[in-house]
Amino acid sequence: MKKILVLIIVLTVVTCSTTAQPPPTVVIPPDGQEYLEAHNKARAEVGVGPLKWNFQLAKATSLLVRFQRDRENCRFANLTSGKYGGNQMWATGEVVTPRKVVENWVSEKIYYTHDNNSCAPDHRCGVYTQVVWRNTAELGCALASCLSDQSTLAICFYNPPGNVIGESPY
Ligand SMILES: *[C@@H]1O[C@H](CO)[C@@H](O)[C@H](O)[C@H]1NC(C)=O
Ligand SMILES: *[C@@H]1O[C@H](CO)[C@@H](O)[C@H](O)[C@H]1NC(C)=O
Repeated sequence: MKKILVLIIVLTVVTCSTTAQPPPTVVIPPDGQEYLEAHNKARAEVGVGPLKWNFQLAKATSLLVRFQRDRENCRFANLTSGKYGGNQMWATGEVVTPRKVVENWVSEKIYYTHDNNSCAPDHRCGVYTQVVWRNTAELGCALASCLSDQSTLAICFYNPPGNVIGESPY
């Protein structure tokens, strides 16, 4: 009898809390929306479905760009050991917006040949192929600036990661 009573109480609590407190509405910040739209535009151009914003990935990139700002003067981060896919961009002497960051990566598209999945010599098509990687579903990004040399570092993380060696992005 005791066990049954406990179960009923627990269920009652769950019912009460769900009716009293609706789940918090998740609002993507304007910057996030801009990263997302720029990615999804490039993906739609090659017939690949949209990414979703992931708050955990955004938090991870936010911590990383702040670390690079505070300790590494906004230099590129070492992303080689991460479990997510990663793109980064460094710029100086210009105002960097999320749209500009993504457009910079997508600008490598002209050096990428989809037919044979190859990149022109001396170019880094990997930043573009990660943007349009079909099996990547989620995105989170952040940027930070260093006043000393007016530089900005932007980083996006992708899950699942793209650029699997030997595979075509789409
Ligand atoms: C980045 O991290 C990897 C793995 O931890 C390490 O092997 C590599 O030397 C690092 N690269 C740089 C440039 O520090
Ligand atoms: C892939 O195709 C492009 C365009 O036809 C060509 O320029 C390039 O050399 C090819 N790359 C490889 C690795 O076959």
